[in-house]
Amino acid sequence: MCGIVGYIGHREAYPIILKGLKRLEYRGYDSAGVALYDGNTINLCKTKGKVEALETKVKTQIATKGTIGIGHTRWATHGVPNDTNSHPHVSNSGNLVIIHNGIIENYESLKKELIKRGYNFASDTDTEVLVNLIEDVQKNQNTKLGKAVQIALNQVIGAYAIAVFDKKKPNEIVTAKLGSPLAIGIGDNEFFIASDASPFIEYTNNAIYLEDEEMAIIRRGKDIKIRKIKNDSIVAPYIQQLQINLEQIEKGGYDHFMLKEIYEQPNAILDTFRGRLLSKDAIIKMAGIEDNMKKFLNAKRIIIVACGTSWHAGLVSEYTFENLTRTPVEVEYASEFRYRNPVINEDDIVIAISQSGETADTLAAIKLAKAKGAFVFGVCNVVGSSIAREAHAGAYTHAGPEIGVASTKAFTTQITVLTLIALRLARAKGTISSTDFRHHLIELELIPEKVKKALQSDAYIKVVSEIYKDSKNVLYLGRGYNFPVALEGALKLKEISYIHAEGYPAAEMKHGPIALIDENMPIVVIATKKGHYEKVVSNIQEIKSRKGKIIGIVTEGDTSVKDLADHVIEVPETLEPLTPLLTTIPLQLLSYHIAVMLNKNVDQPRNLAKSVTVE
Ligand code: M6R
Repeated sequence: MCGIVGYIGHREAYPIILKGLKRLEYRGYDSAGVALYDGNTINLCKTKGKVEALETKVKTQIATKGTIGIGHTRWATHGVPNDTNSHPHVSNSGNLVIIHNGIIENYESLKKELIKRGYNFASDTDTEVLVNLIEDVQKNQNTKLGKAVQIALNQVIGAYAIAVFDKKKPNEIVTAKLGSPLAIGIGDNEFFIASDASPFIEYTNNAIYLEDEEMAIIRRGKDIKIRKIKNDSIVAPYIQQLQINLEQIEKGGYDHFMLKEIYEQPNAILDTFRGRLLSKDAIIKMAGIEDNMKKFLNAKRIIIVACGTSWHAGLVSEYTFENLTRTPVEVEYASEFRYRNPVINEDDIVIAISQSGETADTLAAIKLAKAKGAFVFGVCNVVGSSIAREAHAGAYTHAGPEIGVASTKAFTTQITVLTLIALRLARAKGTISSTDFRHHLIELELIPEKVKKALQSDAYIKVVSEIYKDSKNVLYLGRGYNFPVALEGALKLKEISYIHAEGYPAAEMKHGPIALIDENMPIVVIATKKGHYEKVVSNIQEIKSRKGKIIGIVTEGDTSVKDLADHVIEVPETLEPLTPLLTTIPLQLLSYHIAVMLNKNVDQPRNLAKSVTVE
């Protein structure tokens, strides 16, 4: 997964591309590059490292003139991150230049053929193969660039979002998409190409999102022609008016996107149930559910597929769905599900959860479920994303753009949407009484204010973070609805501070992890009043007698845990199924502060990327 940006129009392309790459760095940041055409030459600059390193290198190495250009920020798949493997890649003649997000799976066989025909390769990438394949078609079949791209892509197996131009025809950029996202911004006599709309939102909010297997020929000062790659049929462009603004994308005064996104949660949760939760009328309205109510009511089983944090949200909702609707639920890692020949029946409902809507494993799991006849419902944050489009129906989380690689507001808004769905279905099935239903709605409506309250512990959490920042291992324990929160807390700490952490169901501690406990081991225990409180308190006692350091996440006013724990962080009281929306907050802040204190790159942790569009 990588970020791509392109520009063709009347302005200088470089500043637009550079700024765009900075906004897309969440997609990958191990190397970056830019290619600009100044009327004579393609000026190319590539470097290992971040866009900032590219900016420095460009200053001393290339002229930045030109009104056509492309840029790339990379998350390496084929070939180590180094200058040579960075994009853009240039064809052997030096005429064609390309950027690519995705993987060409059959690149080795294509490369062998091209080598036989005399082509040389400088990099280890699949992308350099593609640009030379296009060149080869162009030469041998004497075609225009658009046609050559089309013929070449029909020989390719894999995924791509590409932008390519030819220095002999510098008034045209050809783009194409299969499996990786590609948006085209339409300005006044100018066009922008990007992996998402953030690079061009300040110039235009008119955009076309290419569908899979579509390509676009974009001509300076003219129009866009969209065609199907397979059969060459013409597609009428569908121009969308985007509703996001730049402020939503930028940091808004916070030091990091992650912190901004943690603090955005009260509003994000509110936005998630806005217009859906009508507590006065005791109604939940969700078009994707209402339109498919019969399918949901007839479902024998719900299978949830997701990865990472989204999988944790799925686990929380397993408790919610089973408890409220009495429908059996299975939660699967999408990466396992897709390859293990799972039993899927036509009366199963598969719910795919994904912030980005681009996670390759989740997308593949959906395709498998569809092929086996299941009804697929997507829960995504990114509007128009691949998963949102691939699902039969769905519900957006409406959390707004999440830029920090560590997922925060996506998690709580996923839980919110899934809780709304479970409640709506429970009401329709009659597995919840009207009083209980109403009570849940009222409590859910109070959650944004309670999240705000939970955020007030931030200063104290910073103090606790200082004490434990040098720990080598941390154990997270929770029970019931808060077991997945323990997993999520551990994942947050691991991914941004690189401290080893594990989440466990509290009662499982005695089956193994208890052996790890000594005076050097911090243990975060979620021990809210609802659920299995007394049992968790007993677990805390067991930790205490082994001298473990206890950080308790407790309900406001709790005294029992306070007496035992080294530190307690309070969250407001709520109904048990809603507690994860509150207990998650201190765990997010704890991992954030520890990572900052350890001087880690919070928003772009090493080896990770925001959306994992490769297997
Ligand atoms: O976009 P998705 O929700 O499909 O992404 C799934 C995971 O890659 C993601 O949640 C990942 O685990 C996050 N870095 C966790 O913070």
